[in-house]
Amino acid sequence: MIAPPIGGDADRGAQTLGRDFLFAVHGAMRALKLYPLENRAVQNALGEVEDLSGRICSAEGSVLLRYVGDFCFVNDLRLRIELASFATFGAVGAALAGHGIGQLEVEPGATREEWVATLTALQQDPPAENAFERISERLDRSRVTNIHVSPELPEQPEVLPDDQSRAMAKKTYAESVAVAREALTGVRMGKGMSVRRVKRAVQQVVDQVLHNESSMISMTVLRDYDQYTFAHSVNVCIFAIALGKKLGLSRMELYELGMGALVHDLGKARMPIELTNKTGQLADPEWELIKEHPTEGLLTLMEMRGLGDFPLRAMLIAYEHHMKVDQTGYPPPIRPREISMFSKIVAVADSFDAATTRRSYQSEPWTPAMVLKEMRDNVKRGMDPVIVKSFINLTGIYPVGSVVILDSYELAVVVAPSTLAEVYHQPVVKIIYDELGIPLSPPRMLDLTEVDPATGAPVRTIVKTTDPETYGIRVRDYIV
Ligand SMILES: [Fe+2]
Ligand SMILES: [Fe+2]
Repeated sequence: MIAPPIGGDADRGAQTLGRDFLFAVHGAMRALKLYPLENRAVQNALGEVEDLSGRICSAEGSVLLRYVGDFCFVNDLRLRIELASFATFGAVGAALAGHGIGQLEVEPGATREEWVATLTALQQDPPAENAFERISERLDRSRVTNIHVSPELPEQPEVLPDDQSRAMAKKTYAESVAVAREALTGVRMGKGMSVRRVKRAVQQVVDQVLHNESSMISMTVLRDYDQYTFAHSVNVCIFAIALGKKLGLSRMELYELGMGALVHDLGKARMPIELTNKTGQLADPEWELIKEHPTEGLLTLMEMRGLGDFPLRAMLIAYEHHMKVDQTGYPPPIRPREISMFSKIVAVADSFDAATTRRSYQSEPWTPAMVLKEMRDNVKRGMDPVIVKSFINLTGIYPVGSVVILDSYELAVVVAPSTLAEVYHQPVVKIIYDELGIPLSPPRMLDLTEVDPATGAPVRTIVKTTDPETYGIRVRDYIV
């Protein structure tokens, strides 16, 4: 926050800074419309925009400009509109809305060229159709990477009707998998990737995790064998962001964490595809090569610097995500080092997703509950115990997608974490087979925190988890 939302000098200062920024944006747009770029008035106006956004960035990390109805927000601060400034506020809002833009985010380091490209595009009349797609393609072509635009989203209340929240989560998930595919394939082909598109995808995942967490987490069971690598990147991104949120990271930190998580295995795109897709055990030399992927990932991201400016913390994740807290793992550290918290978060998210997925060199996936237990109890895994604990806190000990046997001998799939805080063993389930093994159609929802009013005891409890393969169950059919 620049300042508390009401009263005080700090608030007045932030109000003035926010308003000045908006005036500067408006002034620069008008100047660009009226005069050629070299004109002194244009350059002065751009200088002012740079200066003010730089000042807000150094106070807050970034500038997020958005309109909600008639209100204008700069980061979390709602700007108070006086009559004299009404036209300016309205004009900037109308320009953004005309291009289908819901919010504009500026990161530190936005250059004058990026401002010129963005404001020039904004002050032009939007096309009649697909305005948002057009302007974002245009900014992509102009290599604008430190200023992001996001589409207008429908108002998102904290709790959405079930099907609506699922649909939104599904859309974000599918788009993110497509972006991951494009990025990793682009690097494999030697074409690089659009950092801007990656940033936009991560921004959407952050938004969805903040507003629609359980639907977004349930998407991680949508594992598709053919899409394993891409879906894995997105799953790690979702788990890491949700975990970061639980650990109290700011929006900007979540975003950098998500960037690193989405490309944590980027280095694998520089290895032979036969190796990364190999079924069966890897031979020693092959394994040695695979162990190079963190370093390769870091190098790939460093080569892109200047073009795409990846956050440094995100780059470090690619390098450190297989290092263990006891300094083993790979690549081996040259001298004792403190692994960054972001990397530790991604290490937990990565291990969980990898171990619960059936993929090329692992024919029998573990059940999610087994993986959590192993991560918590086996110190050789080298996970940070506090982060593992928070992860269990996030997913419950029976994460979404677990198949469980109840004390009634019924078989059920976990579809949501517990409805009670701090209760980890009583999630919401869908019962899919009755006690005789007969499929229920439709399956029956049951909240395991429900108690029998006569006895005060839970109506059902989980006895153990089991492997869905044993019963020929496709978990995703019951969740998404
Ligand atoms: Fe990895
Ligand atoms: Fe991974």
